[in-house]
Amino acid sequence: MHGLGDVRFFDRVARLYDWVMPAADQQSLAAALSRADGDIDRLLDFGGGTGRATIAVDAAERTVVDISRPMLRRAQARTASGPGRPADPSGPLATVQGDAGRLAVGDNTIDAAIVVDAFHHMPAQAAVVSEAQRVLRPGGVFVVREFDPSHPLGWLLARGEHSIGMNSTFHTPAELAELLADAGFEVEILDAGFEYTVVGTNR
Ligand SMILES: C[S@@+](CC[C@H](N)C(=O)[O-])C[C@H]1O[C@@H](n2cnc3c(N)ncnc32)[C@H](O)[C@@H]1O
Repeated sequence: MHGLGDVRFFDRVARLYDWVMPAADQQSLAAALSRADGDIDRLLDFGGGTGRATIAVDAAERTVVDISRPMLRRAQARTASGPGRPADPSGPLATVQGDAGRLAVGDNTIDAAIVVDAFHHMPAQAAVVSEAQRVLRPGGVFVVREFDPSHPLGWLLARGEHSIGMNSTFHTPAELAELLADAGFEVEILDAGFEYTVVGTNR
């Protein structure tokens, strides 16, 4: 099964996604975003899905980019209040349907891009890294939160995803750091364990 298979999976589980997923790690994301030079006004969340991680970060303009329309519909629903449901207190989110490896975004226009629990689902990972490099302004940051396949829980997760037909590609922190460094980012590995954070600053 190809990357599209991963996306069809998210199309199907979109309605349940926020019920089963814990909140995103706000502290780790804030620590990574603090590596940017200057303020973060414009932020893109690549593979941002329902906006679970987007609402955990602070930026004047936050845009969820995702290839799955049903996941994006959940992100849009967060910002709209409805009967018995207040809008998300973290403020509005914009949404764009598209492939993170081919963005309709201008060069040097973004202060930060994040990818949380999604990079391993993206079939064209090198294209995603190079798009991040293209759209980020100098001093902007690319933050990737991923699962380490050399950690026992990461190994289990990778086995589990492959057993249900996903084509996910996981990297150790050192491997992911190398991918970003090869694209020209100045790279730091911020935390380690089952889930880890790599941040690349655009120089
Ligand atoms: C596990 S979900 C993570 C969602 C969100 N980042 C979070 O932390 O909750 C993975 C998401 O990546 C999206 N995705 C996979 N490949 C993509 C691509 N090439 N471009 C944009 N989004 C993609 C899927 O549609 C799905 O919503």
